[in-house]
Amino acid sequence: MTIGIIGFGNMGQAMAQGLLSKGVSAGDIRAAALRQDKLKAACDSFGILPTNNKQAARESDIVILAVKPWQIQDVLLGIREELANKMVVSVAAGIPFASLKEMLPDSARAVCCIPNTPVAVGRGVLICENKHSLREEDLARFHDLFGRLGEIVLLDAKQLSAANAIAGCGPAFAAMFLEALGDAGVKYGVKRETAYRLAALMLEGTAALHLETGLHPGAMKDAVCSPGGSTIRGVSALEKNGFRSAVISAVDAVENK
Ligand SMILES: NC(=O)c1ccc[n+]([C@@H]2O[C@H](COP(=O)([O-])OP(=O)(O)OC[C@H]3O[C@@H](n4cnc5c(N)ncnc54)[C@H](OP(=O)(O)O)[C@@H]3O)[C@@H](O)[C@H]2O)c1
Repeated sequence: MTIGIIGFGNMGQAMAQGLLSKGVSAGDIRAAALRQDKLKAACDSFGILPTNNKQAARESDIVILAVKPWQIQDVLLGIREELANKMVVSVAAGIPFASLKEMLPDSARAVCCIPNTPVAVGRGVLICENKHSLREEDLARFHDLFGRLGEIVLLDAKQLSAANAIAGCGPAFAAMFLEALGDAGVKYGVKRETAYRLAALMLEGTAALHLETGLHPGAMKDAVCSPGGSTIRGVSALEKNGFRSAVISAVDAVENK
């Protein structure tokens, strides 16, 4: 099965990296982008074949559209014929299935999903619109292949935007928290590399604790705060500085763009 990735920037490369790390052969992936020198350098680093949009679409069983949302229409106009009977996975945020369908030939089967960057290490989330035109066997293939990149979550179109703000934009917010904890560690004499590692392991473990036990985040916070102890002082300082409100405002800012 050949996979063509059209648009080989941050997300296209994150998906290629994730697929390669989960057993897909480099020979089964093609990538296309606009600037050929940049594309070739990126493809060489993964050992995959650089190509152009038409060839990527023609030679692939599954075509991933990973260009910016405002580029989708032009890109699809140029490869409409090649997409006949193909399975198409769009990762363009903000393009719902109803709009994508209008731009594709009738015979193409498509799904819209929004992955996040941890797909590069197979630990991502792929938020997918539950309205799609994949057949049963396509859906099985989609789960088999894209499930290697992380958890596939199917949602109604009206929930996609907020879900993307949490899972798609969230890695940027989480990385800022990670960086800030690293800075704080350095401030108090921990080596930067050690501080980042400690903070990353803590985030990973906290997420796993919630996912595996279903514990309420508030209960997880309470479990660390002993009366009159040091953690509650940290919690109080975060509240004083509007931590939770800042996080909610970040999602407001994404939603109200
Ligand atoms: N980054 C994320 O975390 C994230 C999360 C969820 C969804 N997404 C979605 O992923 C898509 C790509 O985002 P990104 O962050 O990866 O953007 P990006 O880094 O800017 O990559 C865009 C890619 O599209 C290529 N491109 C532009 N015009 C093209 C054309 N006419 N034909 C073929 N390729 C073309 C660019 O090539 P050149 O560099 O040569 O111009 C580049 O390789 C977007 O639709 C976005 O909504 C991204």
